[in-house]
Amino acid sequence: MKKVFLFLLVALFCNPHILAQESVPIIPLPIEAEKKEGAFQIDIHTPLLVSSPILKDIAHYFRTEMLRLKSMPLTIQKEASVPAISFELTDDIQGEEAYEIGVEMEGVTLKGSTPEGVFNAAVSVLQLITNSQHTGEKIQIDNWKIKDKPHYKWRGLMLDESRFFMGKEKVKSILDWMAFYKLNRFHWHLTDESGWRIEIKKYPKLALIGGIGNHNDPEKPAAYYTQKEIEEIVDYAAKRNITVIPEIDMPGHATAANRAYPQYSGGGSEKYPEFTFDPGNPETYTYLTHILRETNVLFPSNMIHLGGDEVSFGSEKWKENEGIQQLMAKYGLENLNEVEYHFMKQMADSVYKMNAKVLVWDELAASDLPRDKTIIYWWRHDKPQQLQLALEKGYQTVLCPRLPYYFDFVQDSVHRIGRKWDGGYNSLQDVYSFSADSLLKNKDQLSLIKGIQANLWAETITSLNRVDYLLFPRLAALAEATWTPEENRSFTAFEDRLKLHLELYRAQRVYFYNPFNPQETPEPVF
Ligand code: ACM
Repeated sequence: MKKVFLFLLVALFCNPHILAQESVPIIPLPIEAEKKEGAFQIDIHTPLLVSSPILKDIAHYFRTEMLRLKSMPLTIQKEASVPAISFELTDDIQGEEAYEIGVEMEGVTLKGSTPEGVFNAAVSVLQLITNSQHTGEKIQIDNWKIKDKPHYKWRGLMLDESRFFMGKEKVKSILDWMAFYKLNRFHWHLTDESGWRIEIKKYPKLALIGGIGNHNDPEKPAAYYTQKEIEEIVDYAAKRNITVIPEIDMPGHATAANRAYPQYSGGGSEKYPEFTFDPGNPETYTYLTHILRETNVLFPSNMIHLGGDEVSFGSEKWKENEGIQQLMAKYGLENLNEVEYHFMKQMADSVYKMNAKVLVWDELAASDLPRDKTIIYWWRHDKPQQLQLALEKGYQTVLCPRLPYYFDFVQDSVHRIGRKWDGGYNSLQDVYSFSADSLLKNKDQLSLIKGIQANLWAETITSLNRVDYLLFPRLAALAEATWTPEENRSFTAFEDRLKLHLELYRAQRVYFYNPFNPQETPEPVF
């Protein structure tokens, strides 16, 4: 009996399928990864082989990252006589972003049927490398055969730079980490109460006056992105397979804009002064359309997020606004909600005329914006009916519920700064284990879920360390929740892989929260 047991044990360990169970050190976890005997060695003489000119940017990204993460400068070549890392396009792989990797002693091949697929392969190889042994001048990576594709197309992060201006270098660094985790949508919240962060040539005061202040310091000198800097960041993101979507929030959250051009203000409330644009003034529509036209030129995504959230925080002055009374009479609008929808419909029409899509927060699920050109962001976790309304009306929807995807919420019960909701907060495990499927009424709704996004609001941010502390390591958990199907996810297995990534954060001087040793980094308070 003992012998049989021993035999079974030996058979178990020699079986390639059992070897395949060994967890591949990649986040997000690939669909299939089989470990093979042997290893591949990389040093500065290992060429990057590029078969098609369209893959050159990807090879360039790869070597930039090898320099950043491993201090190893590599060369791109068209041909090679020594073992190489080879980037290849092929028709054999199904799926827009799918990829395959073969790591063998004789070389590494990265394949996809599109540049996006090859990019994803490049990121996975980078992670194999960064999580491997570095001895002297050489890095040895185990042989693996990997086949992979994402669960969701839309894997996003939103950054609120209105309330805390982080600056170009920080944004680029966040884009680097997004790419490292195959996150591919960057939603840039550029306008709100605290500051207006995008240069508009026709209305220069938006940036020069509207750009003054942060949430915690209303006097802070103007900070904003010039159009040239925006182009640079959009290009930087594109080279990392990231689409950038700007948000110009309206008709609420317009405070910073109203400081610059008060003639378009619809007033506010005691708590939220000058919070809205004025839907009763026909010139407001022209003004905002000019702003959106310039914005659309800067963002080739052809998508503009128009906000549309929390208008009631500051729309009480609308009741006394003569222009709005006339508008209500003219269009038969019965209440301020209808005024809001009317306003959003006009502004959305301006965007559709630019051949771009409109993205809005879930308040607009109740309006009648056209389904084929509009994407709804479900953010109010306490209003699942709003998600259902969006889906029942047939809107493509991005899921970013406050719980667990608002990264300004704390991630540990003892953290003092940051939001909670009835005591609830957004732990690493909750970010990881989110089940979109459990929110749906039937399988047909699945096709309307574009993906998942986390939102980093900045009311509680006063330093770049705090940005890191809120993002890491939750960014890694977000990545796996968006990429890896629910049935393949295991939080404990994720934690094991994450430990290797914490080493990388340390080496890159990321001020991350360490869930395994919270004492490592004190919570940044200021
Ligand atoms: C939001 O959090 N106001 C979208």
